[in-house]
Amino acid sequence: MAVIPVALAGRSYEVRVGSGLLADLAAQCGPLLRKTRVPIVTDANVAAHWRDAVETSLTGAGFEPRWMVLDPGEGAKSWAVLERLVDWLLAEEVERGDHVLALGGGVIGDLTGFAAAILKRGCGFIQLPTTLLAQVDSSVGGKTAINTSAGKNLVGAFHQPSLVLADLDALTTLQAREMRAGYAEVIKYGILGDRAFFEWCEANGPNVLAGEAEAQEYAVTESVKAKARIVAEDERETTGARALLNLGHTFGHALEAQTGFSERLLHGEAVALGMVLAARYSARRGYIADADAERVAAAIGGAGLPSKIAGLGLNCGGRALAAHMLHDKKMDAGTLPFVLLRGIGEAFLDKSVPLDDVASFLDGELQAG
Ligand SMILES: NC(=O)c1ccc[n+]([C@@H]2O[C@H](COP(=O)([O-])OP(=O)(O)OC[C@H]3O[C@@H](n4cnc5c(N)ncnc54)[C@H](O)[C@@H]3O)[C@@H](O)[C@H]2O)c1
Repeated sequence: MAVIPVALAGRSYEVRVGSGLLADLAAQCGPLLRKTRVPIVTDANVAAHWRDAVETSLTGAGFEPRWMVLDPGEGAKSWAVLERLVDWLLAEEVERGDHVLALGGGVIGDLTGFAAAILKRGCGFIQLPTTLLAQVDSSVGGKTAINTSAGKNLVGAFHQPSLVLADLDALTTLQAREMRAGYAEVIKYGILGDRAFFEWCEANGPNVLAGEAEAQEYAVTESVKAKARIVAEDERETTGARALLNLGHTFGHALEAQTGFSERLLHGEAVALGMVLAARYSARRGYIADADAERVAAAIGGAGLPSKIAGLGLNCGGRALAAHMLHDKKMDAGTLPFVLLRGIGEAFLDKSVPLDDVASFLDGELQAG
């Protein structure tokens, strides 16, 4: 098992990565579970595969698990489900010093984390991420949120978990498409800040996706280390360091909006294609060589992720895509900072990108074969 500390003044915690962590849950959580009753939030897909392991571990140690099993999908990050969850936690008499367990992907983690942030002005929570995306990204760093009719993740809070247990066994039941979507966030750490890790991904990506245990453990551990380093440096995204994690997100968000935040394009897939576009746009601005941009595209396409916007059948122009960017929550006093590349492993924040130029770049990409 690897243990990665997330160092934050007064709010430090560990991310543990390894096999068998859910089966060993009671011992892993230790004194964080201070009452017999343990509230656990999950979704029906995750419950089908992992409820028994969690139940067995907790009941075996004398705990009484209490379950809130939600419908799977992004719809759970809503006011209505948040209200239901908070009411349930109150009925379960959860107190500030207690911990709520979030067993699932980014949806369950974001929703449960936000409920924990506002319950009695903040109670504890433990992340038990079960998707690759949640293990390498969303469970670490304390961003929690729900969606509203105005957009995704627009209502939320920074609220750090007390512990993250990334059980690699959980990945064995994940669908291949979800694995690939999570892998986009793995390779992102290489592209944005670590060329050697990008090269490792180029060579080992297929092994990660094929479920090879050593490769998966390395990929998750290195990703969590990268995220922990960046979050420790810039917890609330104020200095710019954490903003680099948004590589691919501005382009990706526009694509998600255009496809209606639907199954047509998963978040990780949108980020993957967004990173290709960010790399190609960086080449257009003269920051990197075309060959480097194409290398990024090849690594992403080679992992079975979308690398060509033309393949999406979007039926719109570059201007329509750029218009979605105006609603990006990273807009700051009329400018939209873009994460671009000076090289593979060298992301930076460019606050001088003209949206008209982005629109005409996207027109070209939409027309390319
Ligand atoms: N907080 C952050 O920093 C952050 C970062 C990135 C993404 N996010 C959020 O994360 C969400 C996406 O997360 P996600 O990709 O994990 O989606 P998800 O939580 O919807 O999970 C994807 C699918 O996999 C299923 N699933 C989960 N674990 C499984 C397992 N072990 N076996 C079988 N099926 C399993 C789920 O039921 C769901 O159908 C988005 O809402 C996004 O906004 C948050």
